[in-house]
Amino acid sequence: MSVVCLSRNILAFRNSGMMVMVRCAQTAAVPAPEPRIKKFQVYRWDPDTPGDKPRMQTYEIDLNTCGPMILDALIKIKNELDPTLTFRRSCREGICGSCAMNINGGNTLACLNKIDTNTSKPTKIYPLPHMYVVKDLVPDMSNFYAQYKSIEPYLKKKDESQEGKQQYFQSVEDRQKLDGLYECILCACCSTSCPSYWWNGDKYLGPAVLMQAYRWMIDSRDEFTEERLSKLQDPFSLYRCHTIMNCTKTCPKVPKAFNKRSCHRIMSFFVLLFHSFQQGLNPGKAIAEIKKMMATYKERKAAAS
Ligand code: SF4
Ligand code: SF4
Ligand code: FES
Repeated sequence: MSVVCLSRNILAFRNSGMMVMVRCAQTAAVPAPEPRIKKFQVYRWDPDTPGDKPRMQTYEIDLNTCGPMILDALIKIKNELDPTLTFRRSCREGICGSCAMNINGGNTLACLNKIDTNTSKPTKIYPLPHMYVVKDLVPDMSNFYAQYKSIEPYLKKKDESQEGKQQYFQSVEDRQKLDGLYECILCACCSTSCPSYWWNGDKYLGPAVLMQAYRWMIDSRDEFTEERLSKLQDPFSLYRCHTIMNCTKTCPKVPKAFNKRSCHRIMSFFVLLFHSFQQGLNPGKAIAEIKKMMATYKERKAAAS
């Protein structure tokens, strides 16, 4: 039999009902997985519905047909069960900070938080605590952003005449001082887990904003460190931090302090080990550093007067 003839015969066999039957028999032999129904209790409140009061709404999802993260579950609920459910999200990979919410009692990013596969326990999801709520899981971030704006989070030079004309160089060592600070995505998980921020959020800047204030204070290219410190001297902006460290405990952002460029291969194992113990960024430490800088700043000021 020629090669052409043989391939024609195979094609004919493939197109025949017999082949289809064999395939069906093979498919039918694989048992369907047992459904893994998980309950999600989600905070709901719609200010546009007159008389609506905050409540928890329960949704059931088969984990076999859902992605592994809490954000996957929320998207599935919105797409397939309830299009009125409202939440923020964008990047779904821990970059934009918009999916911050309170999941099972802790502030975190829904896109980085894995669904607890224990189906006997419901997962409870609330908006970030102690914030005004716009709708459902969407907190009002206006005050947080206004506070961020107040610290002037950008490079400031005394002489602005050279702006845009040349690069502002920085040594490798000075650049490394910003590691663990610049990675902050302003998700507000830390600030909204801070008891001091809960009670004085209108006057205390909170850990996220203070960490960014520190990031600009120690930037070797910035020339307004003294002025930045001077703006935080009142009793509330900085000094409401009582070093409880909830902020550092909750930060979901993994620092890039030990990136591949800066570590030798031989060190990689130890770096990974270090990362497995370190949770996230450390706003509590940044605040402590500002307090130290403030002490010497005040001493200098007193000596000069
Ligand atoms: S320090 Fe961490 S928790 Fe706080 S805003 Fe930045 S990324 Fe979010
Ligand atoms: S260390 Fe300071 S900023 Fe962080 S949670 Fe405690 S009081 Fe708040
Ligand atoms: S969706 Fe961007 S951080 Fe979660």
